[in-house]
Amino acid sequence: MNKKTEISCAEYPDVKLRMIKEDEIEMLRIWKNNNADSFFYTKEISPDQQLKWYEGYISRDNDFMLAVYYQENLVGCIGFRILEDKLIDIYNVILGVEGFASKGIMARTMEMLTTYLAGNYEFDITAKVLITNKAINWYKKNGFSIAEEKEDYYLILYDKSFLKNNLQIKTVQRI
Ligand SMILES: CC(C)(COP(=O)(O)OP(=O)(O)OC[C@H]1O[C@@H](n2cnc3c(N)ncnc32)[C@H](O)[C@@H]1OP(=O)(O)O)[C@@H](O)C(=O)NCCC(=O)NCCS
Repeated sequence: MNKKTEISCAEYPDVKLRMIKEDEIEMLRIWKNNNADSFFYTKEISPDQQLKWYEGYISRDNDFMLAVYYQENLVGCIGFRILEDKLIDIYNVILGVEGFASKGIMARTMEMLTTYLAGNYEFDITAKVLITNKAINWYKKNGFSIAEEKEDYYLILYDKSFLKNNLQIKTVQRI
């Protein structure tokens, strides 16, 4: 995996996960600001801050942000990072474009990513969800369960036996 990888699978041909490019970060910034209540960082992010984040992101080897494309429309994002060489943290999961919500695009996205991760890393796959965020129910439907309850968030763990479809994941490199 590098910052030019694209993940796809034959089973869900409409969904492509592409490492973000600089010209997509403004869209991500808007979505993040629109959904600030769902995340730990709740302040408005400016274009300058977003660019600084991107420059830092590009320099980090174990941090990956994927743009979610559905029928070639940019509709969302999903990130993962490898923490302390032993744990995967899925983060920044957003369906950004209203008209594409509740169609199962993000469920397919999560299944594609977890299939890829389970096939390439032995690490636990986790995420952190604010206790106030109803998205916890979405995570539960998509293979996660609560591992720990902290003061303001749940640490959730993906059950790899949830992967029953055996997706044929393909990765290609953007030129
Ligand atoms: C969490 C989030 C990414 C889910 O996106 P979504 O578009 O609603 O996700 P999905 O389409 O996969 O699932 C939503 C619904 O579609 C339904 N659905 C419809 N067609 C489906 C299909 N083919 N396959 C799976 N589910 C389908 C699901 O059953 C689900 O129903 P529910 O609302 O009754 O639970 C989105 O709500 C979001 O961006 N939230 C704000 C940000 C956030 O909280 N992120 C998580 C931070 S920890």
